[in-house]
Amino acid sequence: MLRTLRSRVIAGVAVLIGIAGLSFVLAAQPQGGAALVEFTADGKLKLPTGYREWVYVGTPLTPNDLNGGEAPFPEFHAVYIDRESFTHFKKTGEFRDGTVLVKDLVGVGTKEAPSGKGYFMGDFNGMDVSIKDSKRFKDEPGKWGYFTFGHKPPLRKEAVMNNAAACNACHQNNATLDWVFTKYYPVLRDAAPKSK
Ligand code: HEC
Repeated sequence: MLRTLRSRVIAGVAVLIGIAGLSFVLAAQPQGGAALVEFTADGKLKLPTGYREWVYVGTPLTPNDLNGGEAPFPEFHAVYIDRESFTHFKKTGEFRDGTVLVKDLVGVGTKEAPSGKGYFMGDFNGMDVSIKDSKRFKDEPGKWGYFTFGHKPPLRKEAVMNNAAACNACHQNNATLDWVFTKYYPVLRDAAPKSK
């Protein structure tokens, strides 16, 4: 009797250790084992994939109609953050080393729908990406690297990092938190710890 009880306890503990070990392995593998983004040997960023399954944070829109017919970025800007960085942000209100933000550019399609007049999303037409990486971008302000894959299809397959004057500087000078325009992303505003 005592023996069976003991062996049951041992078996139970073994199962628990197994589960703990497995979840540790899974947690250590971001996005199902693949790297969040990939670079070529000479440092170009490959066109990201899979990010539409990350956490969506918000969609700024600067349509031509409100910008004298010629907005610099006339599309919807649908922004995503990788899941692990979102979890970290929820806990700390900060962007961890390794954060990836992808801005999917979507053209303005129709301006009328059964719900009324407005701006409705048309086709995907571009992509911008920012990555915080203290090793790879150690010489960039804030350790953020900026990449664009174009604002017209077909998108580039690989992008060289933009120089700081082209992208980083405006983010450095105007963004609300660590180079990121958090104030336009209600999902991040809501997720941030409330004491911040
Ligand atoms: C004149 C200022 C300015 C410049 C230059 C600029 N950005 Fe931004 N960027 C913004 C603003 C404002 C937002 C948020 C509102 C929006 O999307 O319209 C933003 C949002 C972003 C985002 C979403 C995450 C975030 O930081 O909020 C990415 C990614 C991004 N920009 C990449 C780029 C890249 C790549 C370049 C250079 C090719 C660039 N930006 C140049 C002002 C700028």
